[in-house]
Amino acid sequence: MSSENAGPAISTELLTRRFGSFTAVDHVSFSVARGEVVGYLGPNGSGKTTTIRMLCGLLTPTEGHAQVLGFDVAKQSEQIKARIGYMSQKFALYDDLTVRQNIEFYSGVYSVPRDIARVRFDQLIKMAGLEGRTEVLTASLSGGWRQRLALGCALVHEPKLLFLDEPTSGVDPVARREFWDLIYELAEKGATVFVTTHYMDEAERLSDRLIVLQSGKVRASGAARGVLGDVVGEHVVVLPTNAEGAEGIQTWLTARGLKASTVLASWHLPLDAAGLVAFVAAFPTLRYEVRIPTLDDLFLALAEERA
Ligand SMILES: Nc1ncnc2c1ncn2[C@@H]1O[C@H](COP(=O)(O)OP(=O)(O)OP(=O)(O)O)[C@@H](O)[C@H]1O
Ligand SMILES: [Mg+2]
Repeated sequence: MSSENAGPAISTELLTRRFGSFTAVDHVSFSVARGEVVGYLGPNGSGKTTTIRMLCGLLTPTEGHAQVLGFDVAKQSEQIKARIGYMSQKFALYDDLTVRQNIEFYSGVYSVPRDIARVRFDQLIKMAGLEGRTEVLTASLSGGWRQRLALGCALVHEPKLLFLDEPTSGVDPVARREFWDLIYELAEKGATVFVTTHYMDEAERLSDRLIVLQSGKVRASGAARGVLGDVVGEHVVVLPTNAEGAEGIQTWLTARGLKASTVLASWHLPLDAAGLVAFVAAFPTLRYEVRIPTLDDLFLALAEERA
């Protein structure tokens, strides 16, 4: 069997990209199976877009290797570009073209034969819910509609692998949900989706698996719960920074090598089971909330690590 249709959709081995003396992506190794929906997360500047650009064959790795659909990113970028869909943070839609003309333009870029392009146009418009808007100037579309059109344009050649770099930034919650419904339809039909987002609820609920980057390195990966357990711990204790009886908390934390994040006027303390028991014993009169960690807590923990 040719490796184009077998093996993982993406595999990277010590993939590295430097800009001058700065290392943006630092020996990153992971693998994505066909049909998986993987969330690629990390704080601003952690190297997500740089990774995706290497995987799309748009940027040469400085070191290491990556294969996409069985093709080497450094040597076979043309084969990769023809087979993947890429929706970048700033997807190029032409404002002075209509919805129809934008899709036709991308069909041309991907050399989709005319008769196939005509059939697919109708399918994409239906999928993206853009019926009745095909002759509208792209400049007049709102953010949510633009995203749908951008997704439609990224799909004109029916890619089996889709890279989405913050596809829902600046889109309202309803449009975001609808956008994700579209992504899930594609995934159910067998597409592999590699997606970055800063919307933690999306990442947590919608990805099969997460890969978390910190300063260009993979910090954690796996199902959302496991990743949260690894990086944050099992519990988060939340209390106001001026809570009565909270005076000794900083000393207590420092003694255990722990650190609280401060959000607005609250402390967020990541604790494992034993830590929680000890905390309860040490501060019997304190009022606080105990909850399970979310991906927001993960990001706070990463920020603390960096500091
Ligand atoms: N062409 C370039 N030249 C120099 N530095 C670059 C270049 N591209 C990216 N970088 C740097 O590499 C680092 C990683 O950038 P990247 O865009 O991959 O981060 P990101 O995780 O996508 O961030 P964001 O969440 O803000 O989109 C940043 O410090 C960025 O300034
Ligand atoms: Mg980015």
